[in-house]
Amino acid sequence: MKRLKIKEILKGELIGQQVVVKGWVRTKRGSKNVNFIALNDGSTIHNLQVVADVEKLGEELLKDINTSAALGITGELVASQGSGQSVELNATEIIIYGKSDPDKYPIQPKKHSLEFLRENAHLRFRTATFSAVFRIRHAMAFAIHNYFNSKGFVYLHTPIVTGSDAEGAGQMFRVTTLDAKNPPLLEDGSIDYSQDFFGKPTNLTVSGQLEGELGATALGEIYTFGPTFRAENSNTARHLAEFWMIEPEMAFYELQDNMDLAEDFLKSLIKYALDNCMDDLEFLSKRLQEEEKNKPMDERSMELVEKLRFVLENDFIRLPYTEAIEILRNSNHYKKNKFQYPVDWGTDLQSEHERYLVEKHFKKPVILINYPKDIKAFYMKQNADGKTVAAMDVLFPGIGEIIGGSQREEDLDKLVTRMDEMGVPAHEMEWYLDTRRFGTVPHAGFGLGFERLLLFVTGMGNIRDVIAFPRTPKNAEF
Ligand code: 4AD
Ligand code: MG
Repeated sequence: MKRLKIKEILKGELIGQQVVVKGWVRTKRGSKNVNFIALNDGSTIHNLQVVADVEKLGEELLKDINTSAALGITGELVASQGSGQSVELNATEIIIYGKSDPDKYPIQPKKHSLEFLRENAHLRFRTATFSAVFRIRHAMAFAIHNYFNSKGFVYLHTPIVTGSDAEGAGQMFRVTTLDAKNPPLLEDGSIDYSQDFFGKPTNLTVSGQLEGELGATALGEIYTFGPTFRAENSNTARHLAEFWMIEPEMAFYELQDNMDLAEDFLKSLIKYALDNCMDDLEFLSKRLQEEEKNKPMDERSMELVEKLRFVLENDFIRLPYTEAIEILRNSNHYKKNKFQYPVDWGTDLQSEHERYLVEKHFKKPVILINYPKDIKAFYMKQNADGKTVAAMDVLFPGIGEIIGGSQREEDLDKLVTRMDEMGVPAHEMEWYLDTRRFGTVPHAGFGLGFERLLLFVTGMGNIRDVIAFPRTPKNAEF
């Protein structure tokens, strides 16, 4: 007999058919004569109601069926009498693949806090919330590949272990095969990396961009999509030590083209979620609204689906950094000393400033451009004013920076001068400089933090809840 997924069954087109379903028990309730089992197989947020006749299936068997037990059920699909679902399964045979002891299983069918579930991260996939989040994560990954494929971009696999310090984006994780307790030492007491596997110090990548530029200046348009690592000791709800980044890089693109692509890309992903993940989004929206009830009215965020539609339907604001500083300094918020960090031309914007611009001032996503060169990476194109670079950060409501990117400096002399000024070892990066020596072109790109996108799309508040196995300071379970 054909095994079907619950998502298929719930379409309600198979009433009268005999089917097999396999999944895990969410809840079981019932009386002396009949048990109702809510079964979930991960294919959808919805459970299939299974009706089990106690006399027919046996009390002994049904007694062993508790939350999270794994079952295979054969039965007939019938129109449901109860409200809430169109179809239910009248069980004729139940196989218990694995029991689950209700006295020991930590996740009970009641509402657990997200903190509690984070401590039980190995089991949180079994909850409705996390299954919805990880289905959406999958859908977004698929939509990303789809988007670039349809535009003719080439998916380039840049290295995870790298000898270059991409951009000084943050502290790096060192890769080593050395015996950490007894490393071979040089005469001056420093570690002798020449004896290491690669014969030189290597790190986990902080960004695939520089290698991406090599690809773009030959293949035209490329993108990367892979894990990136930053040993930043920032224990916030928006930072991970291991996160996934999508980095498109395009030859013959200038800053304007880069902004257009970033906006179109983000909107297409949001549209994909609305078109394909509505069941999960509606569930997460209800969850969020429950949570928001505890907040004062003016701090509550927009309903999730409404918020996604709003971003889809509105143009992003495009604003030079210099004007952003003026807006911030002229705000009542600034005058009443409500910002924790200073706001001066030349300082990096903090999340509170970004969110003020997006959530309070414009109430729309903002693309901030032309940042002071001293707070941005060495490779960004220098503007004619001598003070700013052609950087762009995309700022989203509730998130702050979701994308960081720029047009790149394509002039060899300017680039090398800037590297010298910033202490970037140009002599170790001849491979990179060759892009500027041989057929250099204007080019641009950006990096989208995948988990930041997921925070936005799912409405989850903590980045640890949108990645399956979060890596944060003092935390690398599994
Ligand atoms: O702004 P960032 O550091 O830019 C780069 O790495 C460039 N090389 C990108 C490029 O132009 N190709 O990082 C890009 C994005 C940020 O906007 C943010 O969304 C995300 O990556 N990000 C993080 N996400 C989670 N945890 C962290 N620690 C992150 N650091 C950056
Ligand atoms: Mg950035």
